[in-house]
Amino acid sequence: MRAVRTRRPGSVDALQQTDLTVPTPASGEVLVRVHATSVTRGDVVLRKMPALVVRAFGEKPKRVLGHEFAGTVAAVGDSAVGFAPGCRVFGTTSGTEHGAHAEYVIVDAEGIIAEIPDHVTFDEAAPTPVGAMTAHHFLDEAGVASGSTVLINGASGSVGSFAVQIARARGAVVTAVTSARNAALVRGLGTDDVIDHTTTDPTAIGRRFDVVFDAVGTLRERRVRGILAAGGRYVTVRTRREETLDELMAVRDLLASGALRAVIDREYGLDDIAQAHMHVETGRKRGNVLVRVRGEEGWGL
Ligand SMILES: NC(=O)c1ccc[n+]([C@@H]2O[C@H](COP(=O)([O-])OP(=O)(O)OC[C@H]3O[C@@H](n4cnc5c(N)ncnc54)[C@H](OP(=O)(O)O)[C@@H]3O)[C@@H](O)[C@H]2O)c1
Repeated sequence: MRAVRTRRPGSVDALQQTDLTVPTPASGEVLVRVHATSVTRGDVVLRKMPALVVRAFGEKPKRVLGHEFAGTVAAVGDSAVGFAPGCRVFGTTSGTEHGAHAEYVIVDAEGIIAEIPDHVTFDEAAPTPVGAMTAHHFLDEAGVASGSTVLINGASGSVGSFAVQIARARGAVVTAVTSARNAALVRGLGTDDVIDHTTTDPTAIGRRFDVVFDAVGTLRERRVRGILAAGGRYVTVRTRREETLDELMAVRDLLASGALRAVIDREYGLDDIAQAHMHVETGRKRGNVLVRVRGEEGWGL
């Protein structure tokens, strides 16, 4: 199978197109034929990180990156319950040996994997799990509910664009921080108000919020104290967390109801993955960067 592996930690020059044997699912595992995946900020960080450092964080280094996927189940191992060949699935490669920048990926049947809702395409599902589960987690942690006033810093990024939609789906009042070029995008996602971080300091606008969610990691806690309402909460993507299947199921429900959609900035093929990494690394992407592995868009089985 075609795959992209990282020969050594460092620049995109270390990414190599390669041919690997299609893996066989062991007991409890599912083999997924990948239709689409993404390049996330996490992929860029891991590309550069020496294996020793990855292990120090309690993770197993992966030679093939790609944290999220959408595809069809190609085969299942003994006692892998819940999935049959042909099932359309999406999820993440947490705890797997290889990531999804490949034509096939092995996932634990009890891992972060779920069926794609009927009307959702592979291209829509693939770039959703990482950003949407992260947004869901931190909005939950902050207790965002109907009527909450929420400031989302980095609202045009992957986590941020999902956070805007999830907060709105809960009935929150959302103020987005991004630059002017992304104002229309975040308004289209349901934002009530936009602050341009290139001209205005969001901590100096004389307003207070029930929740400040730093969805891009540039707003430190000490800066936001003055804009939190009494009892207000600050949450940030800089906090490490574990993914859970419950989060993926919650995201699945939101996709199924039409309350959530992935913003796709650019699309690449597996052959162009170095360009995808370089775009993500600018820190300026809007939403998500899709990598189409099977070439064709949409529903194909
Ligand atoms: N803790 C976790 O479990 C977890 C999970 C996933 C991701 N993360 C982390 O979350 C962070 C965000 O990831 P992402 O993929 O969502 O980000 P991203 O898509 O790369 O964010 C880019 C967006 O952020 C905006 N932005 C950049 N600087 C900004 C600033 N100073 N103020 C406001 N907006 C700004 C940019 O808009 P403009 O170009 O208009 O400025 C751009 O649209 C990364 O550090 C990632 O590693 C953490």
